[in-house]
This record gives sequence, C-alpha cells and structure tokens, in this order.
Amino acid sequence: MNATQPKYKINELDIRPHGQSRELPVLPRSESTSEFMPLEEKEVEYFFASDASAVIEHTNRVIYLEDDDVAAVRDGTLSIHRLKKSLDDPHAREITTLKMEIQQIMKGNYDYFMQKEIFEQPDSVVNTMRGRVRFDGNAIVLGGIKDYIPEIKRCRRLMLIGCGTSYHSAVATRQLLEELTELPVMVELASDFLDRNTPIFRDDVCFFISQSGETADTLMALRYCKQRGALIVGITNTVGSSICRESHCGVHINAGPEIGVASTKAYTSQFISLVMFALVMSEDRLSLQQRRLEILQALSKLADQIRDVLQLDSKVQELAKDLYQHKSLLIMGRGYNFATCLEGALKVKELTYMHSEGIMAGELKHGPLALVDDSMPVLMIVLRDPVYVKCMNALQQVTSRKGCPIIICEEGDEETKAFSSRHLEIPRTVDCLQGILTVIPMQLLSYHIAVLRGCDVDCPRNLAKSVTVE
Ligand code: AGP
Repeated sequence: MNATQPKYKINELDIRPHGQSRELPVLPRSESTSEFMPLEEKEVEYFFASDASAVIEHTNRVIYLEDDDVAAVRDGTLSIHRLKKSLDDPHAREITTLKMEIQQIMKGNYDYFMQKEIFEQPDSVVNTMRGRVRFDGNAIVLGGIKDYIPEIKRCRRLMLIGCGTSYHSAVATRQLLEELTELPVMVELASDFLDRNTPIFRDDVCFFISQSGETADTLMALRYCKQRGALIVGITNTVGSSICRESHCGVHINAGPEIGVASTKAYTSQFISLVMFALVMSEDRLSLQQRRLEILQALSKLADQIRDVLQLDSKVQELAKDLYQHKSLLIMGRGYNFATCLEGALKVKELTYMHSEGIMAGELKHGPLALVDDSMPVLMIVLRDPVYVKCMNALQQVTSRKGCPIIICEEGDEETKAFSSRHLEIPRTVDCLQGILTVIPMQLLSYHIAVLRGCDVDCPRNLAKSVTVE
C-alpha cells in the first residue's frame, strides 16, 4: 500500500524499537537488531504476511503481531488494535530490522526450495554448532540455556514435546539424552499430550521443539506446562516466534530460513541441538568422557559425511523411478534409526501422497509382517550398531516372505548388502548420529518420488508451513 507522510497511529498499543517492552525472557536475537526511524516525508508500503521471509525482498523492517492483534492500514496510517485488553500484554509492538539475506530465500540453481534446503545441510549443521562447539578443547557452550543448567540437572524428568518432524527429532535423540543425562526422558506429541491432560510438576523441564515456533498445539502445550510451574526450554529456528518469546530459555537452531513446507534442514539442526544439550549435561561426568569424545569427534566430521551422502542423489533418483508408481512404501529400522523410519515415512506421505509407514523392526512379528510379499516395497535401515543382529533378523524375516528390500547400510558392509541388489551405502559414524546420515537419503527419495509423480514439492496439498490452528 502506498501513501505519503506515513504515521504510526497508536491505538491501545505503541509500536517501538525492539527491546523496550519485554516482560517475558527472550532468546538472544542474534540475527536481528531493532530500531525505529519514523519515515516522515518518505513514501512507504506496508505488506502483510504470515512469515517474514515472504516480504524480505521488499523490506527488512517487520512488526510481529501477537495473538488477537488486529493490524490495519488506512489512509497511509498503520494502527494495531487489541480485541481484548489483557494485563499480560506488553502494550507495545516492536519494529525489528531483519538481517536475513535475500539469497537465503531464493532458489538459486535448484528447482525447489526443498531440494536447496536438503543440499544446504552440510552448512546448516555447521551453523547450528558455530560458536557453541569447540572441537579443540572438547567444550560446548549453549549460551541461551547455560544459566539454567544447574536447575535442569536437578529436575525430575525431561519432557520433549513437538509435532511432526520436530517430534521426530525428539524420538531421534531420546536414547542419547537418557544415556548422557541419566534422567527419565518423555517424548510427546503436543496434541496427544494436551488430550491426556498429562500431569506436569514444578521440577519438570519441558522442551518445546518447533521449526516455526508458531505451531498451535506446541504453543498450547507450552502454556499448559508453564502454568504448572515447569521450566520451559524452546528449541526453535525462528527468532522472535511465539515459542521463542514464551520460553524461559532456549536454543536457536540457526538452520537458516526453511521455505519448503517439508522440513529437512531444520530436522538435522534440531537433532544436533539436542545432541549438544546432552553433551553439555554430561560435561562433568567422568565415566562419560570417552563417550562424549567419540561423539564430539563424529560431530567434527559430520558436514563432510553429509556431503558424501548427498552424492547418492542420482542413485536415489533411480530408486525413486522404481517406486513412484507404487501405492505404498514400508520403512523399517530400530534403535537410533527408528526416528529416520518415522521421518522418512512422513516425508513420503506429505510430498508424494503415497501411503508410507515407519515400522519399528522389533514390531514386525506383531502385525506388519503380514503386509510383506513380493510386491510390497520395503526399505530397511541396517547399520553396524548395537541392534545390528536384531535388524538382520528382521531383514531375514522380510526376505523369507519374498520381500526384496532396499537396504541402507554402512559403506563396505558386504555381508548386509548381499541380502538385496538395491542398497545405499552411508559413511560410518557414531551410533547416536547415524540418524542424521540415514535421514538424508529419505529426504532425497521423497523429493524425487514427488517430482516423478508431478506433485508440488514445496507446497503439498492441504498443508501449511506454520500450523497455527489446533
Ligand atoms: C514436516 O515436514 C511437516 N511440515 C510438519 O510435520 C512440521 O514438522 C510440523 O507441522 C511441526 O512444525 P514446527 O516444527 O514448525 O512446529
């Protein structure tokens, strides 16, 4: 909207530079600074969008609205109203100057944002660790939560809460968190957690994991836990989001803007953020030092290993050609790779509209094995980790029912490869980080199947990037 001599009309609320009115603790806004320069004598345009990245090509000055705000532009004047007066409201809305680069939200040489975001992962995982992990001194500092670590160490239990892909990052890291924190760890889907009126106590520490920081179910669960006195930790990718602002402390995953509706690089960065948290919690445990060292060394090699996995792209595309006309795909694994099965199946459903199911290999004989025959597409993750023998057992159950699974295995593992002619080999890493390397072929596979089926990769039907309704 164009107008001369713009004025910011104050109607119940002021609009101020960032930093003058916060009542709730906020995560550090490392990507944003704030300022307020009245634009008298200049023309101004106002844009309304659900996400700042949608307007960055036009302006870097944004005002984030709160729930129940009503913003209006009339005769060149912006006014923001509240539907109801609330004592909690800070009575101000800030103008924030974004430091997002326009290249970050352009597709560049890629056909789709999702494809670009998959290929950004060697860099995004490094950005998640940047300034936090010191590989030379084996030290990790998470600035956003360091003051709360003593309180977290005294807690009754850790609860990890999220939806969709964000929930899967909790499933992926639960085992390591249990091992390195020696605390009970509960992993919850936000919607189900609320349906159950789950008991929450003052000495619980509740993590809310959300790429957008705006997911309604996750936000409702956060408020539910906050009212009951728990410590609230936000793990988000969006500076200034509701979850970010309403948390007591948190970790910004720094994956960079994720535009494709299907979450990819945010997943691997959430995963690494939770791994870093586990490493911080075990810093002073002598008995865990060897394990920590092993994980830190593996983290230092991760970006290069992700690059190696991305080299499998054309091989994955060939597999997609075999699969794209099928109705279903079963993805099986267990242990550290069960989360990859869930996440891979979610990606396939979301992008290709094919049925897909992530199956815990230990559950095969309790039902899913009945689905297996010579025509059912199956993908199995079988890596040399503590559940290798059990996975091989599941693989044999599948092949003996004439199943011919695609196998994701470790480079050079001839024994496992012998069970199928179709396999993807990934580099060896420490068990608890395997899930980062195994999920990338699943992201690529869902992407290629979606392209072959003519689906809209970046905007799958019926879905939105930020799910702001319950
Ligand atoms: C992931 O591909 C999905 N788009 C979806 O499951 C998403 O992860 C979920 O809606 C949660 O979103 P959030 O991380 O922004 O909270």
